[in-house]
Amino acid sequence: MASRVVQPFPHSLPTPQARQDEAVQKAVDSLGLTRRMRRNRKADWSRRLVRETVLTTADLIWPLFLVDSSEARSPVAWMPGVDRLNIEEAVRQAAHAAELGIPAIAPFPFVEKSLRDATGSEALNARNLMCRAVRAIKAEVPQIGIICDAALDPYTSHGHDGVMAGERILNDASVRILTQQALALADAGADVIAPSDMMDGRVGAIRAALDASGHEDVQIMAYAAKYASAFYGPFRDAIGTNATLIGDKRTYQMDPGNSDEAIAEVALDLEEGADMVMIKPGLPYLDIVARVKDHFRVPTFAYQVSGEYAMIMAAAQNGWLDGDKAMVESLMAFKRAGADGVLSYFAPMVAAKLKAMG
Ligand code: PBG
Repeated sequence: MASRVVQPFPHSLPTPQARQDEAVQKAVDSLGLTRRMRRNRKADWSRRLVRETVLTTADLIWPLFLVDSSEARSPVAWMPGVDRLNIEEAVRQAAHAAELGIPAIAPFPFVEKSLRDATGSEALNARNLMCRAVRAIKAEVPQIGIICDAALDPYTSHGHDGVMAGERILNDASVRILTQQALALADAGADVIAPSDMMDGRVGAIRAALDASGHEDVQIMAYAAKYASAFYGPFRDAIGTNATLIGDKRTYQMDPGNSDEAIAEVALDLEEGADMVMIKPGLPYLDIVARVKDHFRVPTFAYQVSGEYAMIMAAAQNGWLDGDKAMVESLMAFKRAGADGVLSYFAPMVAAKLKAMG
């Protein structure tokens, strides 16, 4: 029979649990915090006091959709809470936006299918929906800024931003028409031309033509870094180009994998005379917003596009997100990243909220 091995002082050996407790206690005792980051977060007054970034109504640009219709409003199916507006309603909403303190609106037209053709000729019609709306809004609400897209997609039968030869999107031929479109919009009273087409050289051509025709005060907000993005889907529903778009826009809009190229695009647009630059889409490209602002220190804007709006609204409608909070947080993020302002479909909702908060 083997003798039992007797452990010496079995009761004084710490159990594994006791050893752990001791280790944890030591760790906490040795924290020795002199700097406690949470102190500044202890109350609302203090959080407000140390807040670095503030979202204001002056940061907002409101993109809205126009339609030629006897109905004041018709809903955009893929953008809950967004309607297409007829001209009278657009004038009323522009007045409402001005009252809220929103500095500028950015109207986009839903163009009758029968008016679309291969070269987007309706874009040059001085009596088209956009030009009539701009005139009406300028007459009634002169204090609000009107930012007008230069791009042919609402007007072309193929849904591209320029003109085509076979399957190619022609650069210089597109620039010619875009420049004519910009002049028609400026004649109608557009305060800012925003080329969203991504053709090479269009900012310079538009600047020169504006200057040569007495529109030297018309600003250019260049969609400088605009990516070929899946997040434009609901917008294409709103202006009715989803069904008509042939192929995709990857030969002119940027590859989502690129960042240095955004710097090159912005540099060119600034050299060509852009007064303000824009990055689009927004949140998925916040790194580009920050990089562009850091690099150039010029007025830099971001477009929180239709797909970003739709994601937040859809989740909110399902009760999966607090929509109001997500909307404000997302807009704050643009400011934090360095944007001077944001184009957002939430603009009137946020502005009303900010006004209510005083
Ligand atoms: C068209 C244009 C687009 C948007 C603004 N101008 C769509 C596109 O390039 O296909 C997208 C805006 C949005 O998704 O909210 N030149």
